[in-house]
Amino acid sequence: MAIIQSVKQLIRIEMPFRDPLLQRLADGKFHSGQQLAEALGVSRTAIWKQIQGIEDAFGLSVHAVRGKGYRLGSPLELLDEQQIRAQLGPATSAKLESLGLLTCTSSTNSHAIERLPESNGRARVWLAEHQTAGRGRRGRQWVSAFGKNLYMSLAWRFELPMTDLAGLSLVAGVVVAEVLHELGLRGHSLKWPNDVLIDGRKLAGILVEASGEAGGPAVAVIGIGINVSLPAGAGERIDQPWDVLENHCETPVSRNRLAGMMVDRLIEACSAFTHERLAPFVSRWSAFDAYLGHDVKVVKGEHITEGIYRGIAASGAMLLDNANGRSEHHAGEVSLRRLSES
Ligand code: BTN
Repeated sequence: MAIIQSVKQLIRIEMPFRDPLLQRLADGKFHSGQQLAEALGVSRTAIWKQIQGIEDAFGLSVHAVRGKGYRLGSPLELLDEQQIRAQLGPATSAKLESLGLLTCTSSTNSHAIERLPESNGRARVWLAEHQTAGRGRRGRQWVSAFGKNLYMSLAWRFELPMTDLAGLSLVAGVVVAEVLHELGLRGHSLKWPNDVLIDGRKLAGILVEASGEAGGPAVAVIGIGINVSLPAGAGERIDQPWDVLENHCETPVSRNRLAGMMVDRLIEACSAFTHERLAPFVSRWSAFDAYLGHDVKVVKGEHITEGIYRGIAASGAMLLDNANGRSEHHAGEVSLRRLSES
């Protein structure tokens, strides 16, 4: 058992990004073992072993049919650097210090934290096909099926005090909501501080991890997971109501276009945030506000405060009105629920 585990581990770590076998299988069509062996310059047995490796390490299902060969259970649009970069404007390109594509990593946030940008005002971005230990807020896991969704982290070095980065997760929420709107999605909303919902179910999540000196400079890693199309069965491990883009978009969403647009708009947003903080984003955030004017409860440990949700302040705090007047609540300290939710 331990040996099998370490072989899987080895395949994960050592698999090159542009794995030639996966590149050929991605179209979802049949490829004979003989053709694959010739194309890759290996034996048919080696192809069979690599197919097993792909299934074990990434949870992909590969159909093997005698006389036809191998095909993936469903086609994949693999991440492609050229297609992602094609979405960037010249100003954003100039601010992108590096763009790294990974077949598999524990978490793109963890990967990014170990490889921070060298200069202020420059981004380093990591995208992965698969995460083995994707992290969500409040210690949750983020289920990260291979090649189906978007898992990205953007690291940015700010010449700002740590405390000024408090609103950054709301900025990331605005960017996700606007990019999805641009791609044709309608009816999605933001639940403070940064859940992207559709019909009350989670479509995307944001995890910002910041470090640095209280007085600055500070570095933020903005981690974003967007559910594009989860394969059958993958959703069983998700412990909250969830949904995928493909259920709501008339035309299929290209993961590379989505990734490129996200990188482009996030870099623009980080630059704007550096100079103007949250101010230009408050009205943009409010355009997607899920709970405005609704009865809500604010939960802080055992303590519950009820009231009417009044949107966000310029600091990014949420505003609550009740018989005691108006109160402000900060992300990280509390969670927000509709009064009708349990
Ligand atoms: C949430 O709980 O809502 C936040 C989820 C954030 C998930 C993304 S996926 C890419 C990045 N890497 C991680 O490990 N987490 C974030």
